[in-house]
Amino acid sequence: MEKPAIEGGSPVRDTKLFYGHQYIDEEDIAAVTAVLRSDFLTCGPEITKLEDRLCALTGAKHAVAVSNGTAALHIACQAAGIGEGDEVVTTPITFAASANCALYCGARPVFADIDPDTYNIDPAKVEEKITEATKAVVAVDYTGQAADLDPLLSLCRARGIVLIEDGAHSIGTRYKGRPVGSIADMTTFSFHPVKTVTGGEGGAVLTDDDELYERLSLLRAHGITRKESLLRHPSHGGWYYEQLALGMNYRMTDMQAALISSQLNKLERFCARRREIVERYNEAFGRLPQIRVQKEIAASDTARHLYLLRLVPERLRIGRKEFFDAMAAENICCNVHYIPVYYHPYYEELGYQRGICPIAEKLYEEIMSLPLYYGLSDKDVGDVICAVEKLCAYYGK
Ligand SMILES: Cc1ncc(COP(=O)(O)O)c(C=O)c1O
Repeated sequence: MEKPAIEGGSPVRDTKLFYGHQYIDEEDIAAVTAVLRSDFLTCGPEITKLEDRLCALTGAKHAVAVSNGTAALHIACQAAGIGEGDEVVTTPITFAASANCALYCGARPVFADIDPDTYNIDPAKVEEKITEATKAVVAVDYTGQAADLDPLLSLCRARGIVLIEDGAHSIGTRYKGRPVGSIADMTTFSFHPVKTVTGGEGGAVLTDDDELYERLSLLRAHGITRKESLLRHPSHGGWYYEQLALGMNYRMTDMQAALISSQLNKLERFCARRREIVERYNEAFGRLPQIRVQKEIAASDTARHLYLLRLVPERLRIGRKEFFDAMAAENICCNVHYIPVYYHPYYEELGYQRGICPIAEKLYEEIMSLPLYYGLSDKDVGDVICAVEKLCAYYGK
């Protein structure tokens, strides 16, 4: 049975509000149904159209559309030549996929702590973790704010390390005026339904590097090519292809690609509305001593994916779990992004222990993600604020 809301059991709203939700309009539906009536459901023209679109949006030279963001990270690591015995430095405050991509390749993820204000991976901590075995850094644009890419790039360039930017949260974000996707050696996107732009599932890798692009294209589809310039043997005829590497089937369907392209038509609107909601939250929560507002990164012109409500434990009589449950009792269903990756039993079994990244671990104890998506009405946003204010007044000290 659900717990009643505080103060006489009357929640701030009657219907549940979830932390994320896709926005699909008639144009999106028409784009997908047009594909269903066409000749190609996969490997068709919508894929190239989307890839060209992503290049135009980000300024990257190449884009490779894939089935999801995890696949994008996997082939990015493979294309970077990561293998057995290598190390990949990443943040613990991320979805497990940002570290799993190293494990898929037989490499070891190494966790570097986060900046206490921006919550993105701290370049100084990354430097401390670099060894002879480090082959890549996976920097996550957490909540949509760009990681501190300039110092990370200098670190990586000086040592021949590949910088992979996990931009699952940050499509539309600019770092020092440059769009995410055009800065790191490779940038990956996710088009999962809670992200700013969705294809149901979907992902992409962006790069300026021609060789990485060739490898990514091969790895997406079984390692198979029909490109004459890449064939090792004379062609046997019009049907001929060769497998040059052990790739996967990570192809995106044309239905996904058409939906993502249609969603990209609304990207500016999506980002602007998210920004508006973030500003309303920041303004309201900036007044509450029980809440610590996430610092806006000056270098990042952010398209925000997540809004973090960070509690100040010293000013509250209840902990994060109780606050989270109390929000649910108000019909505001939050989430927590993220459990530090190395807390997961799978990572424990690999020998990771708690205490590696104390700043990240403390952050995890104090946060929850509030509803943030394009379709939230002003009243919805008001209800969220009202619930937080109500709980802070009731449980504050
Ligand atoms: C930071 C981050 N990286 C990678 C992924 C994986 O993306 P996908 O769910 O599209 O595989 C996600 C998805 O939640 C994510 O948030």
